[in-house]
Amino acid sequence: MKILLLGKNGQVGWELQRALAPLGHVVGLDREGADGLRGDLETLDALAHTVRKAAPDVIVNAAAYTAVDKAETDVARAHRINAEAVGVLATEAARLDALLVHYSTDYVFDGSGTRPWREDSPTAPLSEYGRSKLAGEEAIRARGCRHLIFRTSWVYAARGGNFARTMLRLAAERERLTVIADQIGAPTGADLIADVSAHAIRASLATPALCGTYHLVAEGETSWHGYAQFVIEQARTLGALLKVGEIAPIASSDYPSAAARPLNSRLDTGRLRTNFALHLPDWRDGVARMVHEILPVAG
Ligand SMILES: NC(=O)c1ccc[n+]([C@@H]2O[C@H](COP(=O)([O-])OP(=O)(O)OC[C@H]3O[C@@H](n4cnc5c(N)ncnc54)[C@H](OP(=O)(O)O)[C@@H]3O)[C@@H](O)[C@H]2O)c1
Repeated sequence: MKILLLGKNGQVGWELQRALAPLGHVVGLDREGADGLRGDLETLDALAHTVRKAAPDVIVNAAAYTAVDKAETDVARAHRINAEAVGVLATEAARLDALLVHYSTDYVFDGSGTRPWREDSPTAPLSEYGRSKLAGEEAIRARGCRHLIFRTSWVYAARGGNFARTMLRLAAERERLTVIADQIGAPTGADLIADVSAHAIRASLATPALCGTYHLVAEGETSWHGYAQFVIEQARTLGALLKVGEIAPIASSDYPSAAARPLNSRLDTGRLRTNFALHLPDWRDGVARMVHEILPVAG
């Protein structure tokens, strides 16, 4: 089996390189491409040509325009990468009868209420990023290719910069931190997303009726404030010397940003767990593991 992986060096893409390897031959591309294949989602003709030339059985798209605040002013580019390019991938997948695997976000919802969003809950993005990601989902469904769309949230990985690393740096420098406490969601590891993707791809290839849209996040919920507290506690347990004494909760309105974020990012994962007979670990399990990996003292 041949798998074309786009965005191979992003948080999720990097973990997919590992998780997809046992399923078949993975052709992984970043923006630059390789072996005459172009991996840039902004050049739509070249992207279509790449898919035709690679002729994969499965296309996994981990590439995306993920700069949420910048997307407010860089609207056309965000839509080209997150929606038009995804439409091209879906058209080519339909032509090849390939399975298209794609990632979307809790930002397709408006964040009202407190109930976890289900796959069929009404969408109403608050931001250009959210609108571009929703348009990407809609493009896939309109093309009619076999697909798996995974909506996830608050993605982290041990590799590269992330929220936990930023909190630990600030906690080492400052006595007081302020962190948003009114946005609720589930921090979700790129490793978990990649592993679940691999299971779901295998199952969907055998049983195409499993194709569709799924919510994929770790179990449980917290706020950014709760997340920061947990990271700092874990780091201290592992021996990190941190200056911070107080971690003060603040409201989103106290921390203005270009793009509005949903307050309720809870995603109901029942459909994923039932259809694929999978267990999703508590968010703390993966975050504790990641803190262990990123701390120099955690040997
Ligand atoms: N991060 C989150 O909290 C979060 C939450 C919900 C959903 N998601 C979704 O999950 C998926 C994976 O996100 P992630 O966290 O792994 O994102 P990420 O770490 O930002 O990775 C995105 C990748 O896409 C690449 N990319 C950007 N523009 C490109 C282009 N024009 N052509 C080719 N590649 C391009 C980036 O390459 P460069 O480094 O070269 O720019 C990067 O490698 C995305 O669909 C995202 O929307 C993420």
